[in-house]
Amino acid sequence: MEEFTSGEVYQKEFDPQAYLEYFDLGSDSLGNEAVTFYLECFCKTFTPDFLKGDTLIDLGSGPCIYQFMSACESFENIIASDYLDQNLQEIEKWRKNEPGAFDWSSIGMYVCELEGKRAKWSEKEAKLRRAIQQVLKCDVTLQNPMAPLRLPPVDCVLSTECLESACKDQASYRAALSNVSSLLKPGGHLVLSGLAETTFLMVGSRKFSILFLTEKFQREALAENGFTIIQFKTQPRIDKMTMDLCDFAALYFIIAQKVKEA
Ligand SMILES: C[S@@+](CC[C@H](N)C(=O)[O-])C[C@H]1O[C@@H](n2cnc3c(N)ncnc32)[C@H](O)[C@@H]1O
Repeated sequence: MEEFTSGEVYQKEFDPQAYLEYFDLGSDSLGNEAVTFYLECFCKTFTPDFLKGDTLIDLGSGPCIYQFMSACESFENIIASDYLDQNLQEIEKWRKNEPGAFDWSSIGMYVCELEGKRAKWSEKEAKLRRAIQQVLKCDVTLQNPMAPLRLPPVDCVLSTECLESACKDQASYRAALSNVSSLLKPGGHLVLSGLAETTFLMVGSRKFSILFLTEKFQREALAENGFTIIQFKTQPRIDKMTMDLCDFAALYFIIAQKVKEA
C-alpha cells in the first residue's frame, strides 16, 4: 500500500501544470482514456431530459473545467471547489480568460462533437464562463466541506477522482460520503467518477496515494449513507503501457440519489 499523501503534501507538492499534462487529447496518454470515458458519461447524464437543476457543486475540481462542459447545459449555477489554492487560481485564470490560462479548446470541441453540435465550442465556452459562478475552497474530510461557508443544499454534487485522493481508508471514505450528502437536497443527485482498484497516481515526478476502491465497497458505502444507486458503470482499463503513471484497473461512473439523510 502507498503511504497516504496528506493535505499538507498536496498543498506543497501538487503541481497544477504537471496535472494538466493529462488533458492533451492529441497524445495517446493515460489521461486520454479516463477523460474520454468521463466526458462520454457526463454527456449522457447532463441533459435537460435527465439530470438538470439549478445549482451543481463540484468537489475537488483540481485545476480543471472539462467536467462542466456538459453540465452547463442543464445547470445554470456551477460551483467549482478544491482543497488547493493553486488549483482554484488556475480555474479563476480560465474563468477570467487571463493570459496563461490552460487551453481547453480541443476537449471543448470533442464535447461539442459528442453532443452533436460541432463547431459550437466558442458558444459553449462563453456559457460555461457564465455558469461557473463561484470557485471555492473545500475539504471533503470536514463535516461541512464548504466551511466556513454554509451553502444552501443543492440539486447535484459532482466529484471526479477526489474522494479516493482525499481519503486515507475505508472509514474516512464513508465519512466523506456523509459530509458530501449534507450538501445535497433530499432527492438530489450525487455523480461520482474516478479510478477503481488503484493505489497511486503520478503528478509530474510526485506520487500521490489513491484509496483502493471496489464496486462492492462503494455500493455498500453509498447505501449506508442514504443513497440509492441509479447507475453504476465501469470500464476495464485498455492501455496497460502507462502503469508507471497510475495503476488503475478500471474507471467507474456512478449516479446516486439521496433518499435519506446520512
Ligand atoms: C486526481 S485530482 C482530480 C481533479 C479533477 N476532479 C479531475 O477530474 O481531474 C484530485 C483532486 O482532489 C483534491 N483533494 C485532495 N484532498 C482533498 C480534500 N480533502 N478535499 C477536497 N479536495 C481534495 C486535490 O487537490 C486534487 O485537485
